[in-house]
Amino acid sequence: NWIMTDYAAEFIESVRKQVGDGHVIGAVSGGVDSTVAAVLMTRAIGDRFHAVMVDNGCLRKDEAVTVVKRLREDCHVNLRCVDASERFLGLLKGVTDPEQKRKIIGRTFIDVFQEEADKIQADSGRCDYLLQGTLYPDVIESISYKGPSATIKTHHNVGGLPATMKLKLIEPLRELFKDEVRALGIALGIEENSVWRHPFPGPGLAIRILGEVTAERVKILQEADAIMIEELHKAGHYRAIGQAFVVLLPVKSVGVMGDGRTYEDVAAIRCVETTDYMTADFYHLPYEVMGAMSSRIINEVRGINRVCYDISSKPPATIEWE
Ligand code: XMP
Repeated sequence: NWIMTDYAAEFIESVRKQVGDGHVIGAVSGGVDSTVAAVLMTRAIGDRFHAVMVDNGCLRKDEAVTVVKRLREDCHVNLRCVDASERFLGLLKGVTDPEQKRKIIGRTFIDVFQEEADKIQADSGRCDYLLQGTLYPDVIESISYKGPSATIKTHHNVGGLPATMKLKLIEPLRELFKDEVRALGIALGIEENSVWRHPFPGPGLAIRILGEVTAERVKILQEADAIMIEELHKAGHYRAIGQAFVVLLPVKSVGVMGDGRTYEDVAAIRCVETTDYMTADFYHLPYEVMGAMSSRIINEVRGINRVCYDISSKPPATIEWE
């Protein structure tokens, strides 16, 4: 841990020299990389670092509130959260094609971020740096080869941000692997649960709602997802899993509730074991845990009456369904 403490101290020192009395902007998602990068930057230059979080209307349940609380109150980051839910959901109306969804979300994210950056630049007079949470594997991947998912799906990452912005990049995590970023997060005193969170894709729940994304379907998926994650923590499996989520299928099935017939959505649970996210095996979750998840989701979430477990590995399947 002292290695990470040294690493942090060195970065803070050098970034202070580099930035002088300038200002820095950065997008944060609440994931471990952007959180660690934001905390480091805040330790270096305080409120002259401006973090921006974009709520695209496809975040997990209570995510925006939780991230704002954690970053602002616990980590003292100068953060603004832009609620652009209606704008995103408006643009996604009627769109069912996965690539189309990704493109719309990626493009809109850049627009919203750019608008916010313009405001910050106007307010602070000068701002010539952009903070990015790029990790070593991202650097390698972009230099040497494109991983399979990069060519199969259009990736939207906070990492690939506004080339048009003409800001100088600051990338404190460029030399680190994920486990080192976690160690650094712990050394910086960031809450453990936040450091160990599973990755969450930029397009968010939009690529886990197969078919059209509507506010109503987002709500249904948020509820089911929150229950599933809660049960994973309760059963002690969260840390052993690389990623776990619920997918809302564009399929209805017949069920029975009390003495009435139901005709509602089907949900799939996806839990994978992986080290690099390039390959993955479905996680062998005990039946009792699956059972607890299934009965809670069906009983507590109106709109879902059947739950399946995804038993595909990557390859040939990918981790996400879209
Ligand atoms: P796939 O589905 O390609 O996913 O096996 C591999 C990993 O990448 C994440 N993923 C994304 N992350 N923007 C992101 O920031 C994206 O557009 C995106 N698409 C997939 C996925 O959640 C998994 O961790």
